[in-house]
Amino acid sequence: MAKLTVRDLTAEQLRGRRALVRVDFNVPLDEHGHITDDTRIRAAIPTLELLVERGARVVLLSHLGRPKGKPDAKYSLEPVARRLKELMPRRDVSFVESTDTDEAQKATMALTDGQVVLLENTRFLGGEESNDPRLARGLAQLGDLYVNDAFGAAHRAHASTEGVAHHLSPAVAGLLMDRELAYLHGALEQPGHPFVAILGGSKISGKIDVIDALLPKVDALLVGGAMACTFYKAMGLEIGKSLVEPDRVEMAKELLEQAGTRLILPHDATVAADLKSGASARAVPRDGIPADMAMLDIGPRTAESYARAILSARTVLWNGPMGVFETPPFDKGTRAIADAMASATGRGATTIVGGGDSAAAVEQFGLAPKMSHVSTGGGASLEFLEGKALPGVDALTER
Ligand code: 3PG
Repeated sequence: MAKLTVRDLTAEQLRGRRALVRVDFNVPLDEHGHITDDTRIRAAIPTLELLVERGARVVLLSHLGRPKGKPDAKYSLEPVARRLKELMPRRDVSFVESTDTDEAQKATMALTDGQVVLLENTRFLGGEESNDPRLARGLAQLGDLYVNDAFGAAHRAHASTEGVAHHLSPAVAGLLMDRELAYLHGALEQPGHPFVAILGGSKISGKIDVIDALLPKVDALLVGGAMACTFYKAMGLEIGKSLVEPDRVEMAKELLEQAGTRLILPHDATVAADLKSGASARAVPRDGIPADMAMLDIGPRTAESYARAILSARTVLWNGPMGVFETPPFDKGTRAIADAMASATGRGATTIVGGGDSAAAVEQFGLAPKMSHVSTGGGASLEFLEGKALPGVDALTER
């Protein structure tokens, strides 16, 4: 059912009120604590600007990494606050080191219209991940209404993503959340046909439910990445030193039997003795993988035929790289998918990239702006595509 969004709230409803906004600022940091990709911070800005424009006092909550319910300097949101200030130079953005303490509440009460404060990592609080009702009530003291813009964390039923939403009214979706849901929902429920899905990555185990959910809806489901090898194994092919999930071979066999012609596996593979020996990489047909080599990318024939399928599609949904895209020359298959999707967008197709590795790949190739939508949520988009409910969305106020 449709949820209220921040767009539905007028300046009269927002002016002077504290909007408690859950964002997903769980960004990658290097060993010096520098942010290596600020996409998730940038993605939240339209919601923050809307709230500021309409006179709200903005209180931000986010998690970062997986600290174990207590403060850990390595996971402080302080560098994120600095980046946010740079990205909103005309706004008054500050940082407070605690969330449920008097200090945090005082800081929210001292805000004036249009000011923004980011509180410290919600996962420093015991009770966040267990969705402790006491913590949820405590967090609700930090705002007068709730906005969830953390699509990337919407599959987590945590105190700041789910519990708190029951104590503040209205509890609305942010603009990013709304956009993510609209694209993914649109692809599942009203895709333009042909609808082509591409699934890759190393493991079939994490993708079984997505394959099951997508097969009845798509015209073709193209498989790449090392997960293809588990299917090859199920077909009785030699896979050499390739990654395989031996305990999933039976499952792969069953899937192949049920799927019919819509499930398409790579016809050829780019193989090498190991990741380092890029120079010796070569393409072989799928029934010709040498015993001492591993498949590290889809082969060139496959890349070409997948690109053709993408170019003739009206809806394209992609999750998971075709090979080890971080290490050339094993980036070619993933690049071919990204290039074809960029061209398909130009021809009017709707192109959606699931979060996680495939989103990182299109960023690396500089093609993110050429996609209709690049999701900020890896786990969340997979769960949505599997047809699971997202607790962070379910808890929001119905329209
Ligand atoms: C993500 O990066 O997928 C989200 O921020 C959720 O993080 P988590 O997997 O640590 O809950």
